Amino acid sequence: MAAARLLYLLNAKAACSTKTLAGAGSSVCFRRNVCSSPSRLQSCMSAWVIDQYGTNEVLRYTEEATIPSVSSASEVLIKVHAAGLNPLDLSMRGGYGAKLLKLRRDPLSVMNSDSEFPLILGRDVSGVVVECGSAVSHFAPGDEVWAAVPPWKQGSLADFVTLTEFEVSHKPKSLSHIEAASIPYVANTALSALVNAGGLCRDSSSNKRVLITGGSGGVGTFSIQLLKAWGAHVTVTCSQNAEGLVRGLGADEVVDYTAGDPAKQLDVMEKFDVILDNVGGETEQWAMGLLKPWSGAKYITLVTPLLFNTDSMGLLDGTVQTGLALQKKAIQSISSRGVFYRWGFYAPDGPALDEVRNLVDAGKILPVVEAHFQFSHVPQGFQKLEQGHARGKTVVRVADDDDDRQAEELVQDVHTETADSEQEVHETAKQN
Ligand SMILES: NC(=O)c1ccc[n+]([C@@H]2O[C@H](COP(=O)([O-])OP(=O)(O)OC[C@H]3O[C@@H](n4cnc5c(N)ncnc54)[C@H](OP(=O)(O)O)[C@@H]3O)[C@@H](O)[C@H]2O)c1
Repeated sequence: MAAARLLYLLNAKAACSTKTLAGAGSSVCFRRNVCSSPSRLQSCMSAWVIDQYGTNEVLRYTEEATIPSVSSASEVLIKVHAAGLNPLDLSMRGGYGAKLLKLRRDPLSVMNSDSEFPLILGRDVSGVVVECGSAVSHFAPGDEVWAAVPPWKQGSLADFVTLTEFEVSHKPKSLSHIEAASIPYVANTALSALVNAGGLCRDSSSNKRVLITGGSGGVGTFSIQLLKAWGAHVTVTCSQNAEGLVRGLGADEVVDYTAGDPAKQLDVMEKFDVILDNVGGETEQWAMGLLKPWSGAKYITLVTPLLFNTDSMGLLDGTVQTGLALQKKAIQSISSRGVFYRWGFYAPDGPALDEVRNLVDAGKILPVVEAHFQFSHVPQGFQKLEQGHARGKTVVRVADDDDDRQAEELVQDVHTETADSEQEVHETAKQN
């Protein structure tokens, strides 16, 4: 099904017409607190935005954020029920990656220098589709969906978010929105790293030994479960007080990095086919020696200097220097030990989430929600992230039950209004 969907999307024409449920001129306002003033129709929603980069003080709640519109045939507008927070949100709040992300948003640099503001953070969404572009065939209004919002797009700490059909997937039926919002970003990252960079897949993992460093965080807790579902043997590094958690998720062997040099503890074990490094820093210096030599084994780190370098050196120098550094390490690793050195990156991928949904609904992957916050407490959610020592994920409840009912009524209202306006058009045409 995922392949068919991908094929469809590759062939889909990027026509700009939309099958819009909320017709132009509709008097519906999508605000959390229902909007009554005709002068503020259609365009306002609640969101946490930043207007400049900085610490937690820059987070600002507003009910005047612009509702995103379905601007291409392949887009869907999603009513956000829950949003997941990731370390990237913290970094982006401080301006990390600003130069490269800005280039992605505005490749021709036609916008002014602060064009990204007001910027909405939040990388995971679980919610309900309320509007579809004309070429969207996989989703319909009312569908419950989940997705990871690419960092170059407006995030999910808002009432609504738009994504392309390719980035979205139907949400697992067995999860609440809060639980579902804990998975997409780490799932897309882990799958991209393990499959594209690590060469692993469902059918090729059963005889593989995999080491996950930083196994107790968002990416780690997901990756342990995915790899166990694929039949791999999984070793994890984490703090002593996270051992119960990672063992409960299926880790076969656990190394407490706070109890002594993890390199020494791991060195006495059988060597690994793949290492997924969620910690970075000095780890790569000792981790390469833990891979099976001359066997095509792979070290993949998620902690890469690309965005830091483009921020500090500029886009051209930063990209060139980063590329050269990667090439040097890759050549050194392959020539000295016969192992591959790679970087892993998040990549938006709805069909990959379809596969994850099946594993979740089969009970093979559980959500690991460490904390969740009400929408009014988003700054506290960021403070939680800042403390570090994550044990799974932090999630924000964006819609409450009343909002859910309002959203359902909204879809119905919009249907009725669209039907009414179609009838009006018919009658006017007849009269003419
Ligand atoms: N390249 C990409 O596209 C991409 C995408 C997603 C994430 N990332 C990066 O990947 C990393 C992991 O992401 P995440 O979402 O899983 O982060 P996270 O949720 O913050 O988890 C990090 C985990 O690592 C543990 N940890 C810290 N130092 C450790 C050490 N020396 N050895 C073992 N465990 C250690 C932490 O717990 P304790 O401190 O209590 O041990 C925490 O549980 C982050 O640096 C993130 O920025 C990159």
